[in-house]
Parts: sequence; structure tokens; C-alpha cells
Amino acid sequence: RILLLLTAFSLLLLSACGREDLSVMNPQGPVAQGQLDLMKLAITIMIVVLLVVFAIAAYVLVKFRRKKGQTEVPEQVEGNFKLEVIWTVIPLILVIVLAIPTVGQLSALGKDYTKDENALQVKVTAHQYWWEFSYPDLGVTTAQDLIIPTNKTISFVLDSNDVIHSFWVPSLSGKIDTNFAGDDDTKGTTNKFHFSAPNEGVYRGKCAELCGPSHAFMEFKVKSVSPEEFDNWVASMKAPAVLPEDEMLAEKFRSACLTCHAVGDQGTAVGPNLTGIGNRESVASMLLNEREGQEGASVEDNMKQWLHDPQKVKPGNKMPDPIDLGLTTEEIDAIAEYLASYKLDYETNSAD
Ligand code: CUA
Repeated sequence: RILLLLTAFSLLLLSACGREDLSVMNPQGPVAQGQLDLMKLAITIMIVVLLVVFAIAAYVLVKFRRKKGQTEVPEQVEGNFKLEVIWTVIPLILVIVLAIPTVGQLSALGKDYTKDENALQVKVTAHQYWWEFSYPDLGVTTAQDLIIPTNKTISFVLDSNDVIHSFWVPSLSGKIDTNFAGDDDTKGTTNKFHFSAPNEGVYRGKCAELCGPSHAFMEFKVKSVSPEEFDNWVASMKAPAVLPEDEMLAEKFRSACLTCHAVGDQGTAVGPNLTGIGNRESVASMLLNEREGQEGASVEDNMKQWLHDPQKVKPGNKMPDPIDLGLTTEEIDAIAEYLASYKLDYETNSAD
């Protein structure tokens, strides 16, 4: 039965490793690498301890079992100084071996980069159920896709707009809570955090704290691009807003959407900033946009699916039904097409 349990448990562990993009076993940066090394060290020590203890237990079971015809009580041993020293000193050494790198990692993790001029400062604000990323030094705000340059320390200050969420990019770092401070920002509930990504790539991030009915859909992406592309992206984010060409539609978009959303230099930043939303990896976190090597529907189809029934895609989110905002089905389709086509040309390859 024990064997069965162990097998079931290991299968459970293995099943969690199935998604490589959401696995801590596939580190893509120094912070995640350090944490994986620590886990490996701890697990190795635990396995060795387990094997030694099991081996001794098995040996004792066989060696001191009641022999056939044995009736008398065997010799009773009361204490053994040598043995007691051994089984006190060995765990002590193991704890020290574990403690030194753990404390080292913790202090590296706790290092404050918010005043570091070489680090890129990013303010993360979690909302039910989306992520806001702003770059205070660059004057840029975006949502859902966090764009970062490679090989640079990204220094995060994290906050929440409502309940507690948790910021987690398994391949780049561990988790950190985003707390809600309300109107009082002096409570010291703001968290600090940092990581860097040496390679270009798209890394999957997730909210790791149960925060409501759509917690499971509160995903985001970290897109690490070359420093040159990053500069291009910042410049294109600051360019004047691109509105629907059709004047009537632009007016509808302004009155229905820009009262909560912002594009470029226009609108209100209550909901997600929509500048360049056509470039994003997904619509509403979970509707993956088709990309090379990634399954998904076209941005346009995803945008339509979302706008025609936001509550179905992400239950409990704060996006009103566009029909209730006075838009017709045709106008919703047209706005979806406009948003899907709102792309920023910052990738150096595609610009060539
Ligand atoms: Cu936000 Cu779970």
C-alpha cells in the first residue's frame, strides 16, 4: 500500500512538471536558477537522509526480529552516548549546510534595487483580474504583457488595487504577494522584488493567490526583448494615440471605451491600457493569440469573443458588457477589428 501511495505521489509531482512554461524546473534567469539550486540541494539531502533512515530501519527489523522458539526478553539497552552524539551532530551539520545558501539567497532576494540607477524600475499593480505595469522613469504604462530588456535588473514595487494577489513568473523568480493598502500608502504593505532575464523570450506569469472567481484566468506574460527593441517599444508607446479611422466609430470608441481605458495620450487609466494591444500574447489573459510556435486564434477573433461576452470569458471581471454601453453588434465587431490592428512596430526583425 505504501508503495502504491509513493507511486501516486511521484506521478502527481511529475504531472505538475508537464507545463514547461509554468515550471520552476526550467529557470531562465539568475534568481530562478538560484532558487532551483536551493531546492535541489534540500531535496538531495532529504533523499539521502530518507535512504539512510529506511536502510537502518530495515536492518533493525530483520536483525532484531523475534526468532523461532524465542521466549525470553532480549537484552535491554538504556542509552548510548556515542550514538546520541552521532545523531545530534549529523542533523546539525545538515541544517548548517542548508542554512548557509538559504540565508545567502534570502539576502540576495531582499536586496533593494529601487534606488539603483542601473536597474529598470517597474510598478506592478494587480487588479481583479489583470495586471498593470508602469515604468515611472519612462512615463509609460501598459497591461498584461510586461516588456523588459534582456540582461538588466528589473526592480519591482508591487501593490494591489483591490484584494491580495501574488506575482509569479516561475521561470524567472519565486512568488511575491501584492497587498492592498487602500488609501493609506504609508502602511508599509508595498512589496519590493527583482529579477532579470538574460535571454530574449516570452515567459508565462500567473497570479498565485486565490483572489476571486477568475483567479485562475489572471495570467500575464513577461516579454524580454533586446535593449534596442525595448527603447523602440517605449518610444512607440509614447507616440500619439491611433484611433479608429472612421470618425463615427472613433467617437463611439471615445465615449464607450476611453472612459475607462487609455490609448496613447488619450483616455482614462482605470482599466487596462490598450496601447498596442494587437501585439499582445493574449486577449483577456486566457485567449491566446496565434503566434509562431503557439496555438491560438487570431487576435481579431479573440477580441470579438471577449467583447461580445466579457463575463463568459472571465467571470466576475469589471468590464461592462459593451451592449450595455450603447454599442451595436456591428460596432463591437468594428472596435474589435480596430483593436486587433492596433500594433506597435518595435521589433527590429519585423522592421527590416
Ligand atoms: Cu489575482 Cu489570483
